Amino acid sequence: MLLFLLLVLNSKTNAQIDPALCRYPLGMEDGRIKNDDITASSQWYDTTGPQYGRLNREEGDGAWCPAGQLQPSDVQYLQLDLRHLTFVTVVATQGRYARSSGNEFARKYRLDYSRDGHRWISWRNRSGNEIIVGNVNTYASVVKDLHPPIITRFLRLIPVTDAVHTVCMRVEVFGCPWQDGLTAYSAPEGQTMMAPGYPITSLNDSTYDGVLELLGGLGQMTDGVIGQDDFVPMLQYQLWPGYDYVGWRNDSLGPGYVEMEFQFDRQRNFTSMKVHSNNMFSRGVKVFSSVSCAFKPHLISEWETEPVEFSTVLDDRNPSARYVTVPLERRSGTALRCRFFFADTWMMFSEISFQSDTQPPTAPRAPWIGLPTAPGKCGGTSVLIGCLVTIILLLVVIIFLILWCQYVCKVLEKAPRRILEEEVTVRLSSCSDTIVLQTPPVPPRMSLDPPYERVFLLDPQYQDPAALRVKLPELSQSAECGGGYAEPDVTQCTPHQGFQNSVPHYAETDIVNLQGVTGSNMYAVPAVTVDSLTRKDISVAEFPREHLIFREKLGEGQFGEVHLCEAEGLAEFLGEGAPLPEQDGRAVLVAVKQLRADATSNARNDFLKEIKIMSRLNDPNIIRLLCVCVHSDPLCMVTEYMENGDLNMFLSQREIESTLTHANNIPSVSMADLLHMAVQIASGMKYLASLNFVHRDLATRNCLLDRQLTIKISDFGMSRNLYSSDYYRIQGRAVLPIRWMAWESILLGKFTTASDVWAFGVTLWEIFTLCREQPYSLLTDEQVIENSGEFFRNQGRQIYLSLPPLCPSSLFELMMRCWSRDIRDRPSFSSLYQALRPHAHHS
Ligand code: ADE
Repeated sequence: MLLFLLLVLNSKTNAQIDPALCRYPLGMEDGRIKNDDITASSQWYDTTGPQYGRLNREEGDGAWCPAGQLQPSDVQYLQLDLRHLTFVTVVATQGRYARSSGNEFARKYRLDYSRDGHRWISWRNRSGNEIIVGNVNTYASVVKDLHPPIITRFLRLIPVTDAVHTVCMRVEVFGCPWQDGLTAYSAPEGQTMMAPGYPITSLNDSTYDGVLELLGGLGQMTDGVIGQDDFVPMLQYQLWPGYDYVGWRNDSLGPGYVEMEFQFDRQRNFTSMKVHSNNMFSRGVKVFSSVSCAFKPHLISEWETEPVEFSTVLDDRNPSARYVTVPLERRSGTALRCRFFFADTWMMFSEISFQSDTQPPTAPRAPWIGLPTAPGKCGGTSVLIGCLVTIILLLVVIIFLILWCQYVCKVLEKAPRRILEEEVTVRLSSCSDTIVLQTPPVPPRMSLDPPYERVFLLDPQYQDPAALRVKLPELSQSAECGGGYAEPDVTQCTPHQGFQNSVPHYAETDIVNLQGVTGSNMYAVPAVTVDSLTRKDISVAEFPREHLIFREKLGEGQFGEVHLCEAEGLAEFLGEGAPLPEQDGRAVLVAVKQLRADATSNARNDFLKEIKIMSRLNDPNIIRLLCVCVHSDPLCMVTEYMENGDLNMFLSQREIESTLTHANNIPSVSMADLLHMAVQIASGMKYLASLNFVHRDLATRNCLLDRQLTIKISDFGMSRNLYSSDYYRIQGRAVLPIRWMAWESILLGKFTTASDVWAFGVTLWEIFTLCREQPYSLLTDEQVIENSGEFFRNQGRQIYLSLPPLCPSSLFELMMRCWSRDIRDRPSFSSLYQALRPHAHHS
């Protein structure tokens, strides 16, 4: 236990800044940034001055608005003084809502920043783009991650416009204190590695914000992103090979070392320096053999003569990239000059950080989206002991709470619902670990509004429709089956589907029931009785299973496995006109989904239902069932084989087509390919919608690609272990793809073609992020559910997926329409198809 604690503590004190954790609101919304520290280039009226530019606040006339109409050439800004150097990772913007009388917002903006208040630098993303896409309406806050993050004290938000517009902004910035205090480093420019058989690897410092030749700025070595063991692929940003590292070649730098200078905000007693270094010795890269650091008490004084020297233990066996910690003996200084000596042909660093004894600035208090409060620093023995004791006490309390919660939850699960109604809310809210998404001490405007309840999916009363209706009467009205919705929809027009049964249907469904495209959605398909399916009901041809020759396993999950098989004689078996891909010879490759031998009778029934439904689907963009083996166990369904696997895997292994991808033979897709994919999915979904068939799990993981990149919608995802983090388990009973689900599906269990449209919007978003990120990756599952409550309440607190860098804004507007709160406002699949088709060159 103690060892564990020491490890925890150790990892804490050693932790480098982690951009994924450093995302605390810096105080626009809650007022920690004082009015005096918010200034602007101009203001329209006193009531739209800079002090009104606070996110989610409604004081004055509701936002900061610069004077006059903004011209495309204007530079107007809202300036924040954060008082300390700060690592800024996220910016959120809103327009002027003004209790619904406002009409102004900034569609685009850019950022300038300054560490000293004199030299201003324009922020650019990792592809060199300055413009950030902002708001599409006056109320929703659009949250943008900054890649790279900014280390700054002063920040300017500069609205950008293409046409003459009045713009107004409310903002919040997120981040954490920059405790290193490093204000600049200088180094020789990184070089390019060219070796036969390898891609050209550019090891420059591409986000450096000083002057060229690396002087006076910060860059990749302080962006919190550490490189992988192999320096060629990038960890996070699909830019170019070697992006994560800055590297130098020994023979190009005369003296056998790389000299770097580091300047700090004030004099510090340095305890250590950590250098994250590559060690891929098989390619001539090693950590430095030794380092020598000299100190300067003041920026203008001379270097002290006694340097600190440190030799590393070279490692020829383990090629892992690693942090090398260089002890700095508590030497005092405002600047350091370190010489890193080569141990091999190349030396490559991805991150450098400094630890010193000076007190860090006070950490911000308000945690954002459920993160722990900002880390303080445990330094010195007494503080260390204090920290240890606090952690032990905290752990004891947590363990006690967990045990208590487990006990209470168990009791509650067994208790009849009647008992739960009154008392459970309070008790369970501690069990279900509710987290408030967009914080806040309720701002004055909100306190005038009628109070609202938060909806917790985990709370049993929301699984009890009667209680839910009492609690949220407007929920039952607002979520009614949409009469005006473009496509008639059997499921949709079953009012209150979630209420019709005694609980939202997924709540009591077990995992197997939710599997398959096709598995549990069948009530929407006309003329299919699903209650008592037997093998006799299946009209698709029975194929002799001994003619299926196993080739390899494609996937596995709850229900069983999917295999790639050769189907001997399948072409003859199916006869003329069979929908088979062209093959040489007699054997045809097929995908065989096989039910586990020990599957429950429910699972067997679902499997047979899935077969029945699939056998009725016939569309070029829907996976085709070819034949089955159901006369004996294990039950099998045979579908066409899609050589390029699922779309999620396919896209995540590709980059957007560019001269670089061409030159280096990097697998790529073009924008036209992406649009063509979107069109095909829209077309397949249009077909399903025309049958009133609700898919319920549309996502890139459920779209398969054949050799010609034709997409076919399928549904194996639910059962794939591979994507299990995309699904949310409700107390062990149901598995739900909550990040793709419309708010009404999450809160009411209401699945309709309109909720498929919502999922289509998320699928489009995945496509244009090249599946690099999970939707709402910053939110926990519980926060995603909370967010659907915000969609329902519609008070401007809901969080939308943000515009992917590759995505044209017209397409993003289409996505946003798919995520309309009111299902009547969502487009139909026909109109989505019509809207997308002209843009895809393939069709
Ligand atoms: N994985 C699951 N089903 C598949 C199919 N039909 N083709 C290729 N891979 C798959």
